[in-house]
Amino acid sequence: MTIPTADVEAYLAATAARRLERFLAFLRIPSISGIPEHAADCRRAAEQLARDLGAVGLENVEVSETGGHPLVYADWLHADGAPTVLLYGHYDVQPVDPLDEWEATPFEPIVRDGRVLARGASDDKSNISIALAAAEALLATRGALPVNLKLVFEGEEESSSVHLDAWLEANVARLAADVALVADAGFFEGNLPAITVGLRGICAAEIHVRGPFQDVHSGVHGGAIENPINALAAIIAALKGPDGRIRIPGFYDDVVALSEADRAAFSTLPFDEEEYRAELDVPALAGETGWTTLERRGARPTLDVNGIWGGFQGQGSKTIIPGRASAKVTCRLVAGQDPDRVFTLLRDHVLAITPPGVRVDVVSLGGGRPTLTPMDHPATRAYARALEATFGRAPLYVREGGSVPVAASLESIVGLPVTVMGFMPPNGNFHAPNEWMDLANLETGIRALVRFFDEFAADGA
Ligand code: BES
Ligand code: MN
Ligand code: MN
Repeated sequence: MTIPTADVEAYLAATAARRLERFLAFLRIPSISGIPEHAADCRRAAEQLARDLGAVGLENVEVSETGGHPLVYADWLHADGAPTVLLYGHYDVQPVDPLDEWEATPFEPIVRDGRVLARGASDDKSNISIALAAAEALLATRGALPVNLKLVFEGEEESSSVHLDAWLEANVARLAADVALVADAGFFEGNLPAITVGLRGICAAEIHVRGPFQDVHSGVHGGAIENPINALAAIIAALKGPDGRIRIPGFYDDVVALSEADRAAFSTLPFDEEEYRAELDVPALAGETGWTTLERRGARPTLDVNGIWGGFQGQGSKTIIPGRASAKVTCRLVAGQDPDRVFTLLRDHVLAITPPGVRVDVVSLGGGRPTLTPMDHPATRAYARALEATFGRAPLYVREGGSVPVAASLESIVGLPVTVMGFMPPNGNFHAPNEWMDLANLETGIRALVRFFDEFAADGA
């Protein structure tokens, strides 16, 4: 690892303990955006973040109301003639269950073997903390940033950013910048430095199947009426073929085809399928035929059931035909696909294939659009140089399977080009038990971001 400048490095070395303590304090706030009982914690996280931003010298710090969880804005705009970077991150986190599978208490972070274990340690409090520390180090040592910086940290990313687009629309003027740096991603398999050049979109829905007016005796009525769970299982089974293709008419119509160059880029990534399979502890990898694992994960759409419930779940047997059955379904979307259109196709198809003996409702749980970001934008090139200088190797360019819907909104609503940034370890257990952040990534991430600011200031036109 090379250092950005000696004084920045000296400052970072001298303040490491304090910086870690600030990160741990941030992780102790259970800012779960999806659970209403944690609304006050989300606000507390926003206020803590605002205090930290102010303390390191960022200006116009504001906890801004959105109608949902607040958003934190701050800026530093004194780099006359230099480009302006808008940096986005999210301070909210996912729920923690199943709790009994955690080796730590999710909001009592522990440091062990070079890792911090806590909910949000990687997704996305790591990247926020890196941005804060990079700005701090530059302001403390030079009294200035090399670029103008606008920071936007939202509190609803993990629950579909429902209020964000309206906030962006209302703030378009003050968000003007040369690039939006979406700081919500990470490295490639093997913890290799990477730049995310694609994010999938998402379409989320619930399917509710209703049978008899309530649970009824399965002996008295079995054979005479449709069973909602059987019906739901049949519906779900019909949504995908044995070849892994989604059987919703029109589903693939808008998918932008992968070029030969796109496929060549995937094939050159250093990816060990067997290692990946073993890490996930599945007997075999599986998916749509005709595509490689990385293509299926990064550039092909999916349909997955995320949860399913109905009937009797307790011990022993209970002979009923349940009155209700439900499932949560999400589709990951790729370039060209629109979440609203995919929802309509999904709903219409489910209605069309529902057996006659039950009633069905398909309800939208929101969505987000996919993004492809240009590899040749000056900000992406500056970021690549910063990663190479920091890690001693050129970054990989990867299409990520996850979704960060704000990326598309920053493009379409604010009109900004997007570069995706981030230092999460690829196997950091995001959204899962035992989420962790690599302390080395946290430290190198700060150096890389400092370098990015310098590189973009020097050649950001
Ligand atoms: N940061 C993730 C997405 C991600 C994961 C990017 C791994 C790069 C590497 C983000 O917080 C996330 O989880 N997004 C949700 C979006 C949904 C809640 C609308 C997702 O992908 O499920
Ligand atoms: Mn995230
Ligand atoms: Mn997430």
